Amino acid sequence: MPERPTRIIDLSPDDDALIQALLPWSVQAACINAPHWMPTLAHARIEIQRASGEQGVCRVLMDARQPCAWAAAAPCADSAWELHPLLVDPPRHGHGYGRQLAADIEAHARAAGALTMDVSTSDGTGATTLHGADLFADPLGALARIDVIDPVVGHAYRFWQSIGYALVGVLPDAEGVGVPSIRLAKSLRQAPTGHATGAASQRERAAG
Ligand SMILES: CC(C)(COP(=O)(O)OP(=O)(O)OC[C@H]1O[C@@H](n2cnc3c(N)ncnc32)[C@H](O)[C@@H]1OP(=O)(O)O)[C@@H](O)C(=O)NCCC(=O)NCCS
Repeated sequence: MPERPTRIIDLSPDDDALIQALLPWSVQAACINAPHWMPTLAHARIEIQRASGEQGVCRVLMDARQPCAWAAAAPCADSAWELHPLLVDPPRHGHGYGRQLAADIEAHARAAGALTMDVSTSDGTGATTLHGADLFADPLGALARIDVIDPVVGHAYRFWQSIGYALVGVLPDAEGVGVPSIRLAKSLRQAPTGHATGAASQRERAAG
C-alpha cells in the first residue's frame, strides 16, 4: 500500500489544470512498454480527453495535492469492461499506487454490473520473450512460456498477474512486426473481502 494517505477523484475532460499536470509523466510512463503509442504531449492530451469523456470511469490518484496515477475503463462487451490505460508517474512506481487505482476502477465496473475486466499490454521494447517472435507458429505455447527478459526491469504483465489477472491471449503483430498485445482478464464476480473501495464505499455512504 502507498506509504502516505491518498485519495482518488474523477477526471473530467473539462478539468484543464489537472489534465495539464498529467501530461508530462503520462508520456514517460507510456513509453516504458509502448514507445509509439503516446510519444508527445499532444498525443497524451488527446488520449486523456478521450478516456475521460467516454462512457465508463476515469480516475486520478492524488498523493497529497499531486496527481500520481490515472486510469480509465469502459464497457467493451455485455458483461465485460476494458481497463485502459493505467499510468503511474515513473518516480512513484513500486509504491502500490497502480494496485490501489486498479482496485478502485474494478469496484466501479463491478458496481455497474461487469463480471470481467479486460486488459491489454503491449511489448514494444523487447521486455518479454514474446517480442520479435513468430507467434503464429504456436501462440498459446509461446504465451504459456512467457517470461521477462530482465527481472529487474520486469514488464507490466507481471503487475497485472500480481493483482489477480490471468493471461488469456496474445495478438501477434498487434502494434507492428514482432510487437504483440498481451491480453489478461480478471473476474469481478466477487468483491474483495476486508475493505470497501471506490464505488462500494460510495454506495455504503449513500445508504447512510
Ligand atoms: C505497470 C504500472 C501501472 C504498475 O504500477 P505501480 O504503482 O508501479 O505498481 P504497484 O506498486 O502497485 O505494484 C503491484 C505489484 O506489481 C508488481 N509490479 C509492478 N510493476 C511491475 C513490473 N514492471 N514488472 C514486474 N512486476 C511489477 C510489484 O512488484 C507489486 O508486486 P507485489 O504484489 O508482489 O508486491 C506502472 O509501472 C506503470 O505505469 N508502468 C508504465 C505504464 C504501463 O505499463 N501501464 C500498464 C499498461 S497495460
